[in-house]
Amino acid sequence: MARKTRWAVAGTGGITARTLPDLALTENLEVVAVSSRTQPRADTFASEFGIPRSYGAYQAMLADPDVDVVYICTPNGSHFAMAAQAVRAGKHILCEKPLTVNAAQARRLADLAREHNVFAMEAMWMKFNPAVQRLREIVEAGTIGAVRHITTGMGFPAPAAAGRFWSAEQGGGALLDLGVYVITFAEMFLAEAGEVTVQSGWTEHPAHPLSATIRTLELIDEVRRRLLDTHYPARGALDPWDSIPELPLDVRT
Ligand SMILES: NC(=O)c1ccc[n+]([C@@H]2O[C@H](COP(=O)([O-])OP(=O)(O)OC[C@H]3O[C@@H](n4cnc5c(N)ncnc54)[C@H](OP(=O)(O)O)[C@@H]3O)[C@@H](O)[C@H]2O)c1
Repeated sequence: MARKTRWAVAGTGGITARTLPDLALTENLEVVAVSSRTQPRADTFASEFGIPRSYGAYQAMLADPDVDVVYICTPNGSHFAMAAQAVRAGKHILCEKPLTVNAAQARRLADLAREHNVFAMEAMWMKFNPAVQRLREIVEAGTIGAVRHITTGMGFPAPAAAGRFWSAEQGGGALLDLGVYVITFAEMFLAEAGEVTVQSGWTEHPAHPLSATIRTLELIDEVRRRLLDTHYPARGALDPWDSIPELPLDVRT
């Protein structure tokens, strides 16, 4: 059997902790190292998940010759710099979504990966989801005819305390957090239709950012509903904002 690929994870937050148990189920890789911004945190995390090596500095982990692949699990705003450093160090990368915070960075990263002959990929699980793959088969077989319109949505109430969702510097906001899924979904099925254009705005409310965002979403949803009612009166669609009325009233006023 071929040697297992040796992975290192960068960042010790929510998604790293959630993904590690799944990586342990994968037969052709082993997680050999973790890096954090601080050594104590790296050590604690390594002992919690049984990872043999822990680094309190990203560069030190990149210098480890026994690391083949770096899985980048840090806030969005840090992805490009961390991915570029890993690629320059000759490491393959799997980077959490969104790969970068803009297209220019993504193109630059792709060029760098080619230049250094390494594999670089965004961790876009949705493309591998069995239900989505089945849907692709159905569409590709022409079962439902040409796809001309897609209604898609994904949402959850982001906790006000979770800084990365609300920080522009860390690449926060709805578009870069969950918007990337709906764009990917639309792009998968509308790629042949030409360009897919997406717009998003940054909204902030000094007293309660969550309430401002929800009001914006309700407004957008109302516009979307009117458009759809006019153009697609007989449509069937899953309303992405179904969960909003379940929120406590105080965050909606
Ligand atoms: N695929 C999915 O379903 C999914 C789900 C959730 C999140 N994500 C993505 O995963 C990434 C991380 O999200 P998360 O929810 O895990 O965030 P999180 O809980 O805030 O964890 C991010 C970790 O990155 C490190 N970090 C924080 N600020 C940093 C900075 N400025 N530079 C470098 N490292 C920093 C910290 O670890 P240390 O203190 O150890 O350095 C922190 O624990 C995001 O890109 C997000 O979009 C994907």
